[in-house]
Amino acid sequence: MLIFAIESSHDDTSFALLEDNKPIWMETISQIDIHRKYGGTVPELASRLHVKNIGILIEKLKKIIDIKKIDYVAYTKEPGLVGSLHVGYVVANAIAMLLEKPILPLNHLEGHFFSAFIGKEVEYPALGLIVSGGHSQLMLYKSKNEYEVIGQTQDDAVGEVFDKIARKLNLGFPGGPIIDKKWMEFRDKYTGHFTIPHTETQLNFSFSGLKTQVINLINNQINRKQEINVDQYATMFENTVVLYLKNHLEIAIKKYHPRVIVLAGGVSANKAIREMFLNVHSNAIIPEMKYTTDNAMMIARLAYELLRRDR
Ligand code: KG4
Ligand code: ZN
Repeated sequence: MLIFAIESSHDDTSFALLEDNKPIWMETISQIDIHRKYGGTVPELASRLHVKNIGILIEKLKKIIDIKKIDYVAYTKEPGLVGSLHVGYVVANAIAMLLEKPILPLNHLEGHFFSAFIGKEVEYPALGLIVSGGHSQLMLYKSKNEYEVIGQTQDDAVGEVFDKIARKLNLGFPGGPIIDKKWMEFRDKYTGHFTIPHTETQLNFSFSGLKTQVINLINNQINRKQEINVDQYATMFENTVVLYLKNHLEIAIKKYHPRVIVLAGGVSANKAIREMFLNVHSNAIIPEMKYTTDNAMMIARLAYELLRRDR
């Protein structure tokens, strides 16, 4: 079974080929260097760049395989930026129609979950923590057709808050990796943390609550003309995020007894989160970096799980 998948929900244009859970080829074109100049993703620009980049990928795809060999076409239907999603939708449909092959419109977050199982089998029940610039949620897969979002952010996504705190501290964009670098340098010096936010539902998150708390503290110091200790703020902020995610994971593990836990999304690059995650469960998987950020292989892997008949 040869699956061709397209991902274009945010600022990465990605194509992938997966044959019976074996990755054959993937290419992802990132737009980050262009959006960086604006301090965040500009949706209109993202759509235009997808149009340009998808043309480049179509040419490459044609060189990689005879497209007539494709059995299924999958693409990210939602959630994402509408203009960006639309580019993937049109191209996926055009290819499926041309080849007269079935098309699968898929969910981006489910794809993130399956990024941990590229070339691997899923052990159910499985718990996923998806953390990126656009999402923060806990997913529980009881079986391939039975999943539940057991916790999600009520406001900002965790990556978004990393970026906003970094901006407030004048550290640049995207802020996550820069704050993380500070954390690695100062983790032994600044071991404290800010107040852990509270939400009504135990497994939901409020990252905006954490953001407001930190920004208010910084503003108070600015008003009092005190010097801001950027290293300390960055390190304590990251300490707080780690504790917050850890608390949630521990509650979910105790409640649902997953056989495996997976971490996905761009924020999974975070050193402190990775360290914590690998210690919280004996069977914890963090996918390769190229599969944790937005990519088409995870969409192909999700399609494969849905299509296969042996499980
Ligand atoms: O999944 P992703 O590549 O893209 C989208 O969400 O579309 O995630 C990007 C986010 C950004 O907010 C970035 O600051 C954050 O992931 N990020 C990190 C780290 N590397 C990337 N956050 C914390 N620590 C990192 N090392
Ligand atoms: Zn994503």
